[in-house]
Amino acid sequence: MQFKEKYGKYALVTGASSGIGKEFAYLLAERGVNPILVARREERLKEISSGIISKYNVESPFFKVDLSEEQSYKTLFQLTEKYDIGLLINNAGFGYYGRFINQNEEKQEKMIKVNVFTFAMLTKVFSKYFVEKGRGGIILVSSLASFQPTAGMALYGATKGFELLLGEAFYEEIKGKNVDVTVLCPSATLTEFQSVAEGVPHKGMKARDVALYGIKKLGKNVITIPGFGNKIVGKLYRFFPRSFIRWATKIVLGGYLKD
Ligand SMILES: NC(=O)c1ccc[n+]([C@@H]2O[C@H](COP(=O)([O-])OP(=O)(O)OC[C@H]3O[C@@H](n4cnc5c(N)ncnc54)[C@H](OP(=O)(O)O)[C@@H]3O)[C@@H](O)[C@H]2O)c1
Repeated sequence: MQFKEKYGKYALVTGASSGIGKEFAYLLAERGVNPILVARREERLKEISSGIISKYNVESPFFKVDLSEEQSYKTLFQLTEKYDIGLLINNAGFGYYGRFINQNEEKQEKMIKVNVFTFAMLTKVFSKYFVEKGRGGIILVSSLASFQPTAGMALYGATKGFELLLGEAFYEEIKGKNVDVTVLCPSATLTEFQSVAEGVPHKGMKARDVALYGIKKLGKNVITIPGFGNKIVGKLYRFFPRSFIRWATKIVLGGYLKD
């Protein structure tokens, strides 16, 4: 079955103003699906929406919503009710490098609200809607960091661990309801992530390749890791004691623990 026939005409993409979310929006439009874009930077959304509309001749409504606001998941659900959405790309999120006890509390709170609270509640309201309709798909964008404790970005890693566990458990709960659930776990990807997270820029996969992998694996794998090397790392975790994994991650991210 074609992607559009399976998931319907509209898809909601959170965090569509840059990086992986933006690429998801383009890839969905390429498949004839109308992507609905959500983020805070309205000008960016407008620009991306115009680019998508002129290239693929689809609709691409956009909404400026701050997902760190407590009621934002309800607002977003109401704003998009008229669109018959069949796919949720729950992608918006951000990281924060540094020592947990010294980090800015306002930024920490925002990260918990976006990566955990709104992420979970959006998943809940849309999956309920999909189950009632009898079809749908959800891609939850977590991280390879979800498999390990991440000293150097402890809170971020914990939020990503939450997302992975929620997605996996929730997949089991709604199995058989014709709603596909895939947790996409990318490693380093070339986006604005590093600058927002106050980290040192490093190499990574192209955001388009990550998003494309997520689309290909939807309905096939519950957990999916883009990139050959990343996949190997994902498989290696089970062979090492957690104490070793904690130590190795601290070595890699230790530069952020200097304060
Ligand atoms: N890049 C990586 O290395 C990497 C690795 C593993 C996992 N991930 C995950 O991939 C996802 C996408 O990140 P990315 O790499 O594409 O980073 P990005 O380029 O910084 O994109 C993040 C997106 O989230 C949106 N966002 C952040 N806070 C928001 C808020 N309060 N309300 C609404 N939207 C908000 C941003 O839009 P506005 O700023 O316009 O609001 C932006 O569109 C995240 O969940 C991240 O954890 C990334």
